[in-house]
Amino acid sequence: MASSASDQVAFITGAAQGIGYATAQRFLSAGYQVVIADINQDKGTTAQQVLGTDCLFVELDVTSESSWQTAIHKAIEAFGHINVLVNCAGISEPGSIEDCSLELFKKVQDINVDSVFLGCKYGIKAIKNTSGGSIVNIGSTLGIKPMSIHTPYGASKAAVNNITKTAALHCAENQYNIRVNAVHPGAVRTPMYDYYLDLAEDRQAAEESFAQVHPMGRIAEPEDIANAVFFLSSKEAGFITGVALPVDGGFTA
Ligand SMILES: NC(=O)c1ccc[n+]([C@@H]2O[C@H](COP(=O)([O-])OP(=O)(O)OC[C@H]3O[C@@H](n4cnc5c(N)ncnc54)[C@H](O)[C@@H]3O)[C@@H](O)[C@H]2O)c1
Repeated sequence: MASSASDQVAFITGAAQGIGYATAQRFLSAGYQVVIADINQDKGTTAQQVLGTDCLFVELDVTSESSWQTAIHKAIEAFGHINVLVNCAGISEPGSIEDCSLELFKKVQDINVDSVFLGCKYGIKAIKNTSGGSIVNIGSTLGIKPMSIHTPYGASKAAVNNITKTAALHCAENQYNIRVNAVHPGAVRTPMYDYYLDLAEDRQAAEESFAQVHPMGRIAEPEDIANAVFFLSSKEAGFITGVALPVDGGFTA
């Protein structure tokens, strides 16, 4: 688990854009080979072309067990092994307890929770065969500090936190040398954030309000999250497992 080594491989879901893409860039800059795993073929292929030869796009639907098996197989076939797995793919749809349909609730759990369950399951299986490594799951501050309009999303991200801890304990108790941690971002400037600005009546007022709820007076850039993910995966974090790390400018303080 070196912080810079050409034989290190990071497998990152949802890396065709947003936080996952910035995380791919962060690992590439440290000399890792990177697998961009995403359901969006067009953006994934473009990302691979832009990011270069140490980067491979594999199509992955994080809700499908067979898709996980195929994607991990392709990654190992290409790069030999996986040391780091980042579960970043996710969706966010607003909905209060009164207006959220069961269908929407289940959809959000499918993509945000099943993904992390399967990613940890198959990530552990792959990393167990190496000298060790790390898994980082992307949650959200809304899984720690609930908001009434985020019933499905908040529930899904609270589950991400708990799966992270049970997986971390399982790996530690079995002496696997695999650490499992979660990063919980506040608002981050990505297409997902843009989606919420598009829903707002007054886009500029919404931007100001997002910035103001973070005590540091701004939202995160994708690189803020990528740096935290990289730190948790590095040897400098070698005795850190099972943590829920908010990267939120003090929002949950
Ligand atoms: N942007 C924010 O403000 C924010 C805040 C807190 C947490 N997060 C979390 O960070 C993660 C990344 O968010 P983002 O802002 O980069 O989002 P984004 O919408 O910009 O990117 C999400 C990526 O996930 C992929 N994806 C969606 N469903 C998938 C599926 N079934 N299989 C594989 N890939 C799939 C998309 O194609 C896309 O490339 C998410 O888990 C999100 O919940 C984001």
